[in-house]
Amino acid sequence: MNTVRRRSEGTGYSLCVQPAFIIGTNNEDGTPNFAPITWVSAACAGGNDYLLVISMFGGKTTKQNVMRTGRLSANLVSTDMLPLMDYFGTHHARDGKKDALPYAVSRGKKVDVPVLDASRWVYECEVEQSVQTGESTTFFCRIRNVQIDESVSCRDTFDVDLTRLDPVIYSGMYHSIGKLLGRIGDFAGDGRTGEHGA
Ligand SMILES: Cc1cc2nc3c(=O)[nH]c(=O)nc-3n(C[C@H](O)[C@H](O)[C@H](O)COP(=O)(O)O)c2cc1C
Repeated sequence: MNTVRRRSEGTGYSLCVQPAFIIGTNNEDGTPNFAPITWVSAACAGGNDYLLVISMFGGKTTKQNVMRTGRLSANLVSTDMLPLMDYFGTHHARDGKKDALPYAVSRGKKVDVPVLDASRWVYECEVEQSVQTGESTTFFCRIRNVQIDESVSCRDTFDVDLTRLDPVIYSGMYHSIGKLLGRIGDFAGDGRTGEHGA
């Protein structure tokens, strides 16, 4: 393996790379609102008990809706949904309804939140805890339901073939993913299989 020569660049760069999610919330008048929030991660509270961790900056309507209602949906963005995400992310709810593009909306099965019919993976969540850091609020969300495209099968928490979900990956620019490389333990060379988090 090569040794890489690196340079120090201070702290202004971010490699916060995740699959992109569009967050669905209820406006005060009951209408749905959607906005991409890509600073989404997870925390394990024990066993298979996962919280979704979502960080929102400033005073955007999506954040106000989450603070007011304590509910949200997180809709995975596949590459066919990129125009929709780009539109939702470049328009503010305070400037009017985001209805210039067509999209279909349903209600969550366990949580009363709007969900996007185009999404292949949807979390329905209730906020359990929130943490304020400067102008950001980070929500630790209890996952009440996961809706997965019926054509995608997952045997357990980590048996997720991202190539089937075809997510948009956001790093400041939009990307798609490449090949499925393998599972934990496939490359260690000693025959052991791993367990994420153990
Ligand atoms: C690709 C993309 C990712 C974004 N990720 C975040 C994020 O992680 N956190 C955040 O607070 N805003 C994020 N934004 C900004 C909001 O989506 C944007 O401010 C949006 O207009 C808010 O909509 P709203 O006013 O309807 O809430 C992102 C925007 C884009 C285009």
